[in-house]
Amino acid sequence: MSDTQRHPFLHGLSKHRGAPPTVVIIFGASGDLTARKLIPAVYNLSHDNLLPADFYLVGYGRKPIPDDEFRGLAADAIKEFSRRELKPEIWDRVAAHTTYVAGGYDDRAAFDRLAAHIDALEKKLGRDVQRLFYISTPPSVFAPILLNLGASGLAAKHLGLPHHSKVIIEKPFGKDLVSARELNVTIRSVFEEHQVYRIDHYLGKETVQDLLVQRFANAIFEPLWNRNFIDSVQITVAEEVGVGTRGGYYEQSGCLRDMIQNHTMQLLALTAMEPPGSLHAEAIRDEKVKVLNAIQPLTIGPAGDVARAQYAAGMIGGKAVPGYLEEEGIAAQSNTETYAALRLSINNWRWQGVPFYLRSGKRMARRVSEIAINFRRPPGTLFAGETARFDLAANTLSFQIQPDEGLSLILNTKVPGLETRTQPVKMSFRYATTFGSNTAEAYERLVLDAMIGDGTLFIRGDEAEASWKLCTPVLDYWRSVGRTGMDTYAAGGWGPPSADALLAKQNHCWRQP
Ligand code: NDP
Ligand code: BG6
Repeated sequence: MSDTQRHPFLHGLSKHRGAPPTVVIIFGASGDLTARKLIPAVYNLSHDNLLPADFYLVGYGRKPIPDDEFRGLAADAIKEFSRRELKPEIWDRVAAHTTYVAGGYDDRAAFDRLAAHIDALEKKLGRDVQRLFYISTPPSVFAPILLNLGASGLAAKHLGLPHHSKVIIEKPFGKDLVSARELNVTIRSVFEEHQVYRIDHYLGKETVQDLLVQRFANAIFEPLWNRNFIDSVQITVAEEVGVGTRGGYYEQSGCLRDMIQNHTMQLLALTAMEPPGSLHAEAIRDEKVKVLNAIQPLTIGPAGDVARAQYAAGMIGGKAVPGYLEEEGIAAQSNTETYAALRLSINNWRWQGVPFYLRSGKRMARRVSEIAINFRRPPGTLFAGETARFDLAANTLSFQIQPDEGLSLILNTKVPGLETRTQPVKMSFRYATTFGSNTAEAYERLVLDAMIGDGTLFIRGDEAEASWKLCTPVLDYWRSVGRTGMDTYAAGGWGPPSADALLAKQNHCWRQP
């Protein structure tokens, strides 16, 4: 039984925000993600009074770091990366309960020391606290950490609290279907599924959560949300940044593994799933798995459903930037794609015949993530011929995930004047205008949800496998053909010609968000 089934008041999008006394243990606490996202998330939760009064933070890593030094590093991280500036009176509360344990990830004795450290915290406090383990290390040590959590008894459930131990696991969740299945087996040998939180930070983004509200809290969309009215769907996650200093990781990953298999597939699942029976985590995840499993296997190879490319040198923000093959740590003949596009067909009653186009790339014209729902064109009879000077545009509803989060709808409108001329106009809603701009970051929401025990915005094991099932044959094919078919695009552009060709086959073209 899941946490949310046991605690119905915790479920769904509106929930009681009281987290039980908790110790968060971060593995990989000296790392980049901890500094840029996790510590600032803890700080901002504290700022918003969303941490339990008895909250403890324990950093864990191989490098010995004295407690004081770790607190100093954490304070520096907040100063550099938090959306709010560090206020001593808020940080001091957290810092007073922040400690560090040094140890290897495959060192059983070190896990016993960690267990003793947590026992000592509890003893001092005089009560048990929930243990939330956050695995923020490179994936090579996910399995040893999980196995040591099991062997040391740290993963065990306690009698006092319903789910005493939980684990958040960072991405990438495996590198293909086989490794994702193996990781699931390892996890389940130690934790029960309801204790496991596989993170995809896109699910914590405000607009992604709003997608469910827009779809199911407004009566006007759902009747149109099907093959009778929708012509195609485009999901874009474009980044301006290049591979930067992450060449070592990225060469092993590439865009399909880094962005498509997880972030864009999750966006697709939320867009295309059937209405869930409730807002319980399991009800939503069941629907996501169903729709992921209804996607037809991709046709791979020349003229198939997939395009890949690497960025070539170009201009970003008026500055010349190098091509992928010239970046530091990248093999001269690298076979790693920095851009991928997919054309997907969902074989069910609602979506048959509606192409879903997914694309993501680094070094694109601008940073923008959106889901665009393109409706069928209206019959042109009334405004065709002599009275119309322009073709009618298709209505497009777009969810802008970032930046400038919002929602817009393109409508055809009469241009004022004595002639009947139509022109597409955009009706827009912007979160910042209505609600202010300093909203919570995805990691704040997700860390809090895990503390509370709500898995709605996390990926279940079978979802991860369903998505890998679709992507793995593509990766196998690309590996088998080397660089054959690898397209290029100029940095600062909107992607390669082969991705345009994917859409041209059905008389579509990519939107310029
Ligand atoms: P880092 O490379 O910064 O590694 C985190 C920590 O893990 C290091 O500080 C180090 O700590 C330990 N570590 C590093 N390399 C190894 C190794 N080969 N073997 C064992 N331990 C090692 O990773 P990030 O913080 O960037 O990422 C952590 C996780 O989060 C990864 O799974 C990544 O894919 C994921 N992620 C990261 C994002 C980011 O923006 N950074 C974004 C989304 C996901 P010590 O030496 O003290 O043990
Ligand atoms: C991460 C990828 O998951 O998402 C990165 O590993 C990418 O390569 C990042 O840059 C993008 O996240 P966001 O929130 O900045 O869109």
